[in-house]
Amino acid sequence: MHILLCGSFDDSERDDWLQALQRAFPAAHWHLSVDPLNAAQIEVAVVANPLPGSLQGLPRLRLIQSLWAGVDRLMGDASLPAAVPIARMVDPAMNRAMTETALWAVLSLHRGFFRYAAQQRERLWRQWPQKRADEVQVTVLGLGQMGHGAARQLAAQGYRVAGWTARDRNADPVIEVFSGQETLHPLLSRSDIVINLLPLTPLTEGLLDEEFFNAMKPGAALANLARGAHVIDTDLLRALESGQLSHAVLDVMSQEPLPENHPYWGHSQVTLLPHIAAITDTRSAAGMVAENLTALRDGKPLANLVHKGLGY
Ligand code: GLV
Repeated sequence: MHILLCGSFDDSERDDWLQALQRAFPAAHWHLSVDPLNAAQIEVAVVANPLPGSLQGLPRLRLIQSLWAGVDRLMGDASLPAAVPIARMVDPAMNRAMTETALWAVLSLHRGFFRYAAQQRERLWRQWPQKRADEVQVTVLGLGQMGHGAARQLAAQGYRVAGWTARDRNADPVIEVFSGQETLHPLLSRSDIVINLLPLTPLTEGLLDEEFFNAMKPGAALANLARGAHVIDTDLLRALESGQLSHAVLDVMSQEPLPENHPYWGHSQVTLLPHIAAITDTRSAAGMVAENLTALRDGKPLANLVHKGLGY
């Protein structure tokens, strides 16, 4: 099997991936670029946010396997061959990492640890009232692999947890589940902390806007661990400045890296992370890719296929 590995990674990241993938699926010829000789041989493209247009002119392409969980950039490439299935990365190690970040954000927001860190910088000794976890309503937007895992772990820590999805979804034994646009505002109005783990699609892009923030409980906090384009930045800044929102934890930005002069950097109510909430784990992710390559070779069903109509 001839496989193309390409994406927006630097040489050392690409070499790490190549090694891990070769180890996980040795029975393949791996290519790092397309040329006139290999273009007609390549059957699979294993990609990490490739430049638009990079998967054109591959007549035998049968599978595009993403190394990223979110496929929004890939789906935005109008030149992708329409008939070729796309598989997302679903990696238990990545899901665990996302749960850790969600737990850290919720614990820090609930217990005021960001505020205490700011107080230390001011040499200020001041205690604030302490709420119990079961007095804190956490809402997780998006109940995919990551959102659902994080929601259940938050519930296990004693938080009152609800999950919200844009489309219908079955009830869950541990968390409350709400679906559809009409349930969103009532849920936001009683949530102390909102965690965004939605996929980025035309339906969810810009969802976190002025109307959304106004619907939130005054003084509530947001953690955006999904994509920067979910948030209208000027609306979020306004909501923070008016006190409608108390704090925002942002792992993802509409422009990455975040420009040096962006107001988020120095904002006392913003905690920034450089898109590290859940980095793909090379070793376990290579194993997941190998499982799909094996299924393709053996004519078995492929896992984690993207629903192109829904965009995730
Ligand atoms: C990270 O953001 C990913 O989509 O894998």
